[in-house]
This record gives sequence, C-alpha cells and structure tokens, in this order.
Amino acid sequence: MPDLLQIGGITDTMRDRLAERFTIHQASGDYPGEQITHIVTNGHDGVPADVLAACPNVQMVASYGVGYDAIDTDTCVARNIVVTHTPDVLNAEVATTAIMLMLTVYRNFLSDEAHARSGAWERAGNAPLSRSADGRRVGILGLGRIGQAIAKKLEAFDADIHYHSRSAKDVPYSYHADLADMAAAVEVLIVITPGGPETKHLVNRDVLDALGPEGTLINVARGSVVDEAALVSALQDGRLGYAALDVFEEEPKIPDSLKSMSNVVLLPHVGSATHETRAAMGALVVDNVLKHLDDGGALTPVPECAHLVG
Ligand code: NAP
Ligand code: 8YV
Repeated sequence: MPDLLQIGGITDTMRDRLAERFTIHQASGDYPGEQITHIVTNGHDGVPADVLAACPNVQMVASYGVGYDAIDTDTCVARNIVVTHTPDVLNAEVATTAIMLMLTVYRNFLSDEAHARSGAWERAGNAPLSRSADGRRVGILGLGRIGQAIAKKLEAFDADIHYHSRSAKDVPYSYHADLADMAAAVEVLIVITPGGPETKHLVNRDVLDALGPEGTLINVARGSVVDEAALVSALQDGRLGYAALDVFEEEPKIPDSLKSMSNVVLLPHVGSATHETRAAMGALVVDNVLKHLDDGGALTPVPECAHLVG
C-alpha cells in the first residue's frame, strides 16, 4: 500500500476510508519521508517547510479546509504537487457563524444569558435593552463563495448590503472600490477574504476609524487580515464600538486585552466546526485523495494547481 502522511487531526471516518488504501503515518512521529506520496493536513497546520522537504516523492497535499494560506503553493506547484482544499461545502455554516456573531453583538445575548443564569433577573430586575439587528448597513470584505452566502442570509434581516473586493461582481449589492470608503458607509464590517501576504492587515487603523465608535467589526476570515494591535487600541480608545472574532493573529492565543472587553465576542475558530459540515469537508478531502490515487485527478484543486490535474 502507498504511504500517506497525516498532519493534525482527522475524523474517524476519514481515517477508516484512508486506511483501506494507504499506510497512514503521523507527522508528529517517525515517518518514512521518501515513501510518502500523499499528505493530508488542515488550514491551521498547513505543511511545514521541513516536512515538505523531507517528502521528496509527495504528489498531493489534501487540506481539510478551504483556506490554504498555511500551504506553500509556490513550492508545491514547482514540484508538481497537487494541492486540494474543501470549497463550497462549508459556505452555509461559516455564513451562519458570521450572522450569529452579528446577532450576538447587537442583541447582547451573552450578557442577557448571564443575567438569566446568575439570578440577576430575580434580584435586580429586567436586563438592559439591546439594539435591533434588523435593517443594518453591512459591508462584506470579500464577496466570494462564503461572502455571498453571508449576503443571502443578511437579506433575511433586511440588511442594506455593501461589499469590497478587488473587482465588482454581478450582484444587487453596493460595490466600493475602496475599503475605507465602504467602512465609512456601513455599521457592520464582515471580513471573509483569504489570509496570506496579499490580504495582511487590509483592515488597518484607517478602516477601523472609518467604521467608527458605533461600528462593529466581525472577522471570520483569518486573523492576519486584521491588524490586531490596531483593533485593540481602537476598541480601547472608543474609536471602534464592537468586535466579534472567530480568528486571531496568533491562534490559539487571544490577547488578554480582548478577553477583558465586554463589547467584544470571542470564538475559538469554530466557523465550520459542526459535525455535519466537518463530515462533508472530510469526505471531500478523502474523495480528492482517492481520485488522485485512482486516476491522477482531483475534484477540488486550489486554483494555482488546477493545471496539474488537467
Ligand atoms: P473565495 O470564494 O476565494 O472568496 C474570497 C473573496 O475575497 C473573493 O471575493 C475575492 O474577490 C476577495 N479577495 C481576495 N483577495 C482580496 C484582496 N486583496 N482585497 C479584497 N478582496 C479580496 O473564498 P471563500 O471560499 O469564500 O473563503 C474565504 C476565506 O474564508 C478562506 O480563504 C478562509 O481563510 C476563510 N474561512 C474561515 C473559516 C473559519 O472557520 N472562520 C472557515 C472557512 C473559510 P476578488 O478576487 O474580486 O478580490
Ligand atoms: C477550519 C477554515 O477551521 O476552511 C477553512 O479555511 O478556517 C476552517 O473551516 C479549518 O481549516 C479546519 O482544519
């Protein structure tokens, strides 16, 4: 049987299917680098440079996630290694996460829940009023697969939808060629671009200041897209009103300053983390690997590698 290297965790179903066709080795232990033909990894761990170098005969890197900024695609393409990811199957789930973050910020559900659970309702009376989440002006940074799924769900909340990406799309939403201009026009900015050097700190002090003291930043993309230090100081100074974050610059570390703020909602990168969606993502990873083993093809190569599979 051919040899597959596993980086990070996979589900039992993925392991069972892969084990029928491969001998599976763990990157955290000893592995026969020369024999490895396929690597399975995820969006967090990617493939460390030393692991890629230690596997001179690898033909495929299959990633369990849509974002592949942790994988050195330049090196993979130069070595004819096909990189695959899991687009589309997680769009609805990540969009729901973004919407839930927005609703949580506007409706104060975290403090309301604490009010109910702690007995404060009985002791001190009703919880303070919150703000309506309906009819808000919302800007989406990155109107791709997930960004469009977020927009569809926002329509149910009668949102006035704006977006910024490098090019305008054929959609009934307001396009802004300049991100700071869009931030000034909206009340909520939802970040859903890829990570990596091209989008690093796109959301900087100017963008946060444009969003303003009543504005809300929601990041379900990658921590790298937002200048976290600028975000902390904008929140501390009251130049930005609220933030709701699923992703951070140094995961799993979250700055203590953010943890101590009551106008901030924090999640541990769970945008796609449901049994159903992770099962669909895992199935696509394994389908890619098995297709490559059977006929050299791939179902969902990343765009940079599409030419390698015809
Ligand atoms: P996608 O379909 O490729 O969409 C990406 C969007 O970003 C496109 O609209 C693209 O439009 C825009 N974009 C790219 N570079 C840009 C730039 N420099 N400036 C402005 N806009 C830019 O990707 P997707 O499937 O929606 O996924 C997006 C990202 O979400 C993933 O890469 C991943 O990092 C993140 N994600 C996070 C979670 C989570 O658990 N929190 C889960 C899944 C995905 P143009 O080409 O027109 O610029
Ligand atoms: C996952 C993600 O957290 O798909 C992505 O890009 O960020 C998430 O769906 C991760 O990649 C799972 O390993």
